[in-house]
Amino acid sequence: KLKEVSVRLKKDLIRGLGKHSHHRAAVKMLPTFVRATPDGTEKGDYLALDLGGTNFRVLYVRVVEEQQKVVKMDSKICSIPQEMMLGTGEQLFDHIAQCLGEFLESQDLKGQTLPLGFTFSFPCEQKEIDKSILIRWTKGFSCSGVEGQDVVKLLKEAIHRRGDYDIGSVAMVNDTVGTMMSCGYRDQSCEIGMIIGTGTNACYMEEIKNVKRVEGEDGRMCINTEWGGFGDDGSLKDILTEFDEVVDQTSINPGVHTFEKMISGMYLGEIVRLLLVKMAEDKLLFKGETSEALLTPGQFETKYISEIEDGLENAQKILTALGLNWDPVDACVVRLVCDTISSRSARLCAAALATISNRIRVNRGLDHLKTTVGVDGTVYRKHPNFSEELQAAVRLLAPKCDITFLVSEDGSGKGAAMVTAVAQRIALQSRLTQTQDSAG
Ligand code: BGC
Repeated sequence: KLKEVSVRLKKDLIRGLGKHSHHRAAVKMLPTFVRATPDGTEKGDYLALDLGGTNFRVLYVRVVEEQQKVVKMDSKICSIPQEMMLGTGEQLFDHIAQCLGEFLESQDLKGQTLPLGFTFSFPCEQKEIDKSILIRWTKGFSCSGVEGQDVVKLLKEAIHRRGDYDIGSVAMVNDTVGTMMSCGYRDQSCEIGMIIGTGTNACYMEEIKNVKRVEGEDGRMCINTEWGGFGDDGSLKDILTEFDEVVDQTSINPGVHTFEKMISGMYLGEIVRLLLVKMAEDKLLFKGETSEALLTPGQFETKYISEIEDGLENAQKILTALGLNWDPVDACVVRLVCDTISSRSARLCAAALATISNRIRVNRGLDHLKTTVGVDGTVYRKHPNFSEELQAAVRLLAPKCDITFLVSEDGSGKGAAMVTAVAQRIALQSRLTQTQDSAG
């Protein structure tokens, strides 16, 4: 079945890249205008913003050439209250500009205009590295007046409304791209970035000649696949369960990001909760009884899955805290339910990753591909055996690919600076070539 899923995704990747098929494609395959991974000569000081994961963060980072390292000088976390996630875009961007302003003040950086990498982890149609139109919100955000707008413009307008500081050039980055780029500084064969956290997604280096919506024949460009949207055209109907359907229907964006809703941290806990309720109603658990907490959406947190799979004592504590009347067999069954749901997630991700690595291998006419994937996200990092399960399934599904998994160190923060640094290096190189051409 996973092989079938992989074949379906393979077709969808091609559809997303096509000039005419793109607008109907469930997997958007968005060009990122990142044309190169780091070559190790990048350097400088940068600001980075990170919106779209667990928290909103502002960072001040230094790329140090001699050590091929991105050093975080300092950072600040600002919470985004739930009301703001569902409020107006203007409020959201004013809040971001305020948080950045306070950070610059505290670092004594207000007088400088540093280049800024903005990790904005939502599907965006990028026109240029500094022009990025939000296609749609995902992961619990739904601010009005932002979909269809250029996010860089909204950020700059909010900064100008304040008028007390300014920023230099901006590079827009998806978190998958930041993750690939930050791992790429350490391992230059890193050409895939993958996130399995609140949401899920991956990017990879595609041959430009295959990206029909971008001019050019030579070289590569990083494509943000937005694989979370896989299945939005009904292609995964046969593997969706009644629980997946309820999760979708009760989400703030029904009908979209089908694949993400089977996989990522924002939804896994809720899938398990719905299953446990059904099993209790069918008298397979808790002597047929439920509890108020178990019946409340969102009360079974995704982190409980990791904790329960880690040990039966944890399972017992959590079931007690949820007000359930459990016996030792119930605790084992609940653990099995958690394992089933997290394994399904890991294997679906593996099928998708296998599709991408095979595509890179075939693109390059290779019998065997050796490559590195930069990975990040709470589900991948925190679950006790998610990463092993995913890696084992990829080995089965992509036997001709030898994949090294590198957990990124703060890809969303440092990677954004890396993208800005690479963009500056390339701009400088092309200015130099132009000068030489005109001189010669
Ligand atoms: C977004 C992606 C993002 C992923 C992981 C998804 O909901 O659409 O852009 O990369 O979450 O954060």
